[in-house]
Amino acid sequence: MIDLRSDTVTLPAPEMRRAIADAALGDEQKREDPTVLALERRVAALLGQEAAVFLPTATMANQIALKLHGRPGDVLLAEETSHVLVYEYGGAAAHAGLVTMGLPGPNGRVTSEQIRTASAPSSKIADQRATVLSLENTHNNAGGRVWPPAEIEEVVATARELGLAVHLDGARLLNAAAALEVEPASIAARFDTVTLCLSKGLGCPLGALLAGSKELIERAWREKHLFGGAMRQAGIVAAAGVYALDHNVERLADDHARARRLAESMDAAGIPVDVGRVETNFVQIDLAPLGLERTEALLRLREAGVGLSATIHPTVVRAVTHLGIGDEDIERAAELIPLALRARVTAS
Ligand SMILES: Cc1ncc(COP(=O)(O)O)c(C=O)c1O
Repeated sequence: MIDLRSDTVTLPAPEMRRAIADAALGDEQKREDPTVLALERRVAALLGQEAAVFLPTATMANQIALKLHGRPGDVLLAEETSHVLVYEYGGAAAHAGLVTMGLPGPNGRVTSEQIRTASAPSSKIADQRATVLSLENTHNNAGGRVWPPAEIEEVVATARELGLAVHLDGARLLNAAAALEVEPASIAARFDTVTLCLSKGLGCPLGALLAGSKELIERAWREKHLFGGAMRQAGIVAAAGVYALDHNVERLADDHARARRLAESMDAAGIPVDVGRVETNFVQIDLAPLGLERTEALLRLREAGVGLSATIHPTVVRAVTHLGIGDEDIERAAELIPLALRARVTAS
């Protein structure tokens, strides 16, 4: 199967496995694992932050960040389909006691005006105040959309003016940086905390980092213990991260070019794809005009030998490119997808 369900399906290549096998190790919980320490320093510098802490998942990184920025009863502002709101099982409430306010944001982006309105104090004395803003770049549910630099800069500046802490769910930040052809730090340095995921476009089996000031990351360590995320010889997986930063960053642009090529081919074949919205490694197909139901469409695609996946939008499915997908896979998928989707239309 040509597996385009997600960029999380990648398996470590032989060279990455060799880096894992050769990793220098120590007790991570005692901060003695040299490979983890090297990865943390490297990612902090990459993101323009003072420090970083290695964690098993990006979800844990986001959740720890939210705990650092808010007290129970405080309000978290985020775009309403963002990962922290829809895929983290209410962790913001469960772990940090935050009240979440989801703001509508076409393309996954919210505006300064929305943030101003949402953080205006109410007339009550017992005030529930917005204290945290979380942004996502690239934005998963918007289809891998990228924040234009001037826009994210303005929104963060507004949040700061209003006294909000700002967190960036940059699970796919390196995709955003590649798409914009900018240094990741030029986006990430303005945030209080930044999540970076290793197990998506970077192709590692697992791992994520939370970056921020020395003071915040020191506080994050306490939460890491509390979440049960303080590990032992974690260099065994951090080594994959170091390898990925050396070998898998520049190639993200290839994933983007392949996604675009797939979108253009499908568009030419009459499949409802908005090519203009393909900015990184996601291609969204709207099944509504085809009169196809999602489960049926995904089944037909799978039978044809292509794996796509559902999205939060009931009529939209997605194809995601990654390092397990080459040019030939794209050519083949561009033939198979229209055939599989149209077969149903013709039959009905
Ligand atoms: C934007 C975003 N943030 C966070 C995560 C969580 O990543 P993990 O599976 O490592 O917890 C994901 C995973 O898909 C994501 O897309």
